[in-house]
Amino acid sequence: SRVVKLAVIPGDGIGPEVISEAEKVLDAVTAGSGIHFEKTHFSLGAGRFLETGDTLTDADLESIKSHDAIMLGAVGGVPGDARLKDANIERGLLLKLRFELDHYVNLRPSKLYPGAPGPLAAPGDVDFVVVREGTEGPYVGNGGAIRRGTPQEVANETSVNTAFGVERVVRAAFALADRRRRKLTLVHKTNVLVHAGAIWKRLVDEVAAEYPAVAVDYLHVDAATIFLVTNPARFDVIVTDNLFGDILTDLAGAVTGGIGLAASGNINPDRVFPSMFEPVHGSAPDIAGQQKADPTAAILSTALLLDHLGLTAEAARVTRAAEEDIAHRDGAHRTTSQIGDAIAARVQA
Ligand code: NAD
Ligand code: IPM
Ligand code: MN
Repeated sequence: SRVVKLAVIPGDGIGPEVISEAEKVLDAVTAGSGIHFEKTHFSLGAGRFLETGDTLTDADLESIKSHDAIMLGAVGGVPGDARLKDANIERGLLLKLRFELDHYVNLRPSKLYPGAPGPLAAPGDVDFVVVREGTEGPYVGNGGAIRRGTPQEVANETSVNTAFGVERVVRAAFALADRRRRKLTLVHKTNVLVHAGAIWKRLVDEVAAEYPAVAVDYLHVDAATIFLVTNPARFDVIVTDNLFGDILTDLAGAVTGGIGLAASGNINPDRVFPSMFEPVHGSAPDIAGQQKADPTAAILSTALLLDHLGLTAEAARVTRAAEEDIAHRDGAHRTTSQIGDAIAARVQA
């Protein structure tokens, strides 16, 4: 028997709706298995901020750190809501967790499951992983603004790319490619962002020398968006910076069955801190509270969590159940919890 301490952050909007279903599936896959998930629920997000004024307290952070893994729904309110300006939930909570817990590998698999809806007529065998750097790039937030409100106003955002930070995520991407189809694509914008581009290109070339069996290519990010639509099957592992990875993975979700299927893991490969698993999507204020959200992304994120914890058989059962559910979708309307029930039932079958 094994006890796993799991921190659960349902968050805002559809976050709690999809996390309930992920928990349902987690309960189903661990029932009678001797694996016990000891869960702590954290009330964090825009809702908590509006009630208490807290974004992420030191006590919350310390407590979250004492867990083995984290499951997150989505955080953030309606984009542009003035009441949330001071909290900046995205930066003060979500990015703070990723940075403090050193989640430098943001793992975002994209697989077109049989039966999944999609905009592409003949997509072929689409199965790739975006390894998005998670702790640097333009997300670091050391920019600034001066002379606000004057005609001389200046606003800067700086992209931080350290040799240490780039090398470690590039190494993780090569190791992954080596376990997969041995193809790695660096995506950047080296023709314009010459300094950041150069360090990424050089470190990819350096690490590539240690992986002669991995075929390496390079695409500018604008061209990468073309191929993600015209020939996504060409990709195996994409390694890219924090911002390009954010944009590419929403697009990747859209071409592989929709954002409601896209799972992710914020991984600390060194296991110094707990890793955090969450759907790629956000809190979807436009459909929140209506049981319209697809919980599959949250459920597949749970499979990534199980896999990370070494519970590979359980992870495979959850993935297979979701895959079967996707294959049997007939377009009939189902609520969020009906989809969760159906996948949980397949897990137990
Ligand atoms: P979003 O991903 O929340 O929504 C984009 C579109 O996708 C919406 O039309 C939404 O209804 C749809 N959608 C999203 N998830 C879905 C699901 N599971 N099933 C069906 N449809 C789904 O992106 P947004 O509108 O840009 O952001 C809303 C809020 O969420 C913002 O505050 C943003 O900062 C935040 N956000 C949080 C996270 C996170 O916590 N990890 C990620 C992205 C955005
Ligand atoms: C994501 C989200 C976040 C990101 C935001 C909400 C900070 O879009 O997880 O993809 O940009 O990383
Ligand atoms: Mn995003």
